[in-house]
Amino acid sequence: MRYIVVIACLIILFLSSFELKTYKKINAIELGKKLFFDPILSSDSSVSCASCHKPEYGFADNQAFSLGVGGKKTSRNTPSVLNMKNRSAFFWDGRASTLEEQALGPIQNPDEMNLPIHKAVLRLKNHPFYSKAFLQVYGKEIDSLLLGKALAAFEETLEIEETRMDQYLMGNENALNESEKRGLQLFNGKAGCIDCHFGPDFTNDQFKNIGLFSGGKNEDLGRFNVTKNKKDKGKFKVPGLRNVIYTAPYMHDGRFKTLEEVIDYYNNPDIANPKHPNRDKLIKTLNLTSQEKKDLINFLKSASAEKPNPLMD
Ligand code: HEC
Ligand code: HEC
Repeated sequence: MRYIVVIACLIILFLSSFELKTYKKINAIELGKKLFFDPILSSDSSVSCASCHKPEYGFADNQAFSLGVGGKKTSRNTPSVLNMKNRSAFFWDGRASTLEEQALGPIQNPDEMNLPIHKAVLRLKNHPFYSKAFLQVYGKEIDSLLLGKALAAFEETLEIEETRMDQYLMGNENALNESEKRGLQLFNGKAGCIDCHFGPDFTNDQFKNIGLFSGGKNEDLGRFNVTKNKKDKGKFKVPGLRNVIYTAPYMHDGRFKTLEEVIDYYNNPDIANPKHPNRDKLIKTLNLTSQEKKDLINFLKSASAEKPNPLMD
């Protein structure tokens, strides 16, 4: 009899150590990654973060508006979640100031995942894997703060790899061809892009009106929604431009399908709303030749990595 008890104890010990081992491996980044790709965070379990932030398109979407639960369309274009680590504001209007806070937005948004946060937390609490994984990683039961933390931990790892443009700036003269070098000069000079798309990720993290806003009824007011300051009407976050070749269509409403269309606009912005008082003074006719337009686009391409996302081998 005693023999059997000892053996039973050994078996239990063996099994529990095995279970511990399987969970020991997970860390915050892996937990966040699993959540990012898991439709469990949407009301009908059909949509994950990755349904809109598609890895194959630089973690952006290849259509102007993405589809949330029940096929509902988002009201803005899905931006890339690459290179978020050093940003100071999130969403096109900057209404979230940390990635942790941002991550809870889409889960609750009726047009996106449509799941109240307390329900999301309850689901994960009742889930055999997630309930243990959160305990393992954070030493406590899952709550909304930890959910945001785990998603942010994963997103912070999504930094793009070194590009040819980086190699050039680090002194490798041959990393860019002649057209790309001319594009860099234009970007920093005649075309004036650098004034807003400034810094390692090509954004000064400010809000600007580039003249697409007419002030019409039902138009997206952008930053104004957050500040209620009328000078902010039609201002949107300056997006980073790394990996931009993978993230078409462009702008907060996805109105431009190609980089060619974007450059044509910047070259001749008066075709839109030149008289609107909020249009930034830096936005003006550029008189680029067709070769110069090509050079600018080639430069932007050289600032994108060879792969649409850093998770790909
Ligand atoms: C149905 C599509 C959809 C889903 C699902 C979705 N997003 Fe988004 N995401 C968007 C759109 C659209 C925006 C821009 C919204 C805005 O600016 O008002 C956005 C913005 C963001 C941003 C801000 C990027 C920036 O440049 O400021 C981050 C980060 C982000 N989402 C992460 C997530 C995470 C994490 C999840 C899953 C919990 C998620 N998203 C689920 C469509 C989606
Ligand atoms: C006055 C500031 C400013 C200047 C100058 C500027 N941009 Fe922008 N750029 C922005 C803002 C703000 C947006 C987003 C606007 C929107 O969504 O309505 C943007 C969007 C873009 C996008 C779309 C990115 C995406 O993910 O959708 C590209 C590409 C771009 N700019 C390239 C350029 C180039 C090339 C130049 C120079 C010819 C330039 N920009 C000059 C502020 C500026």
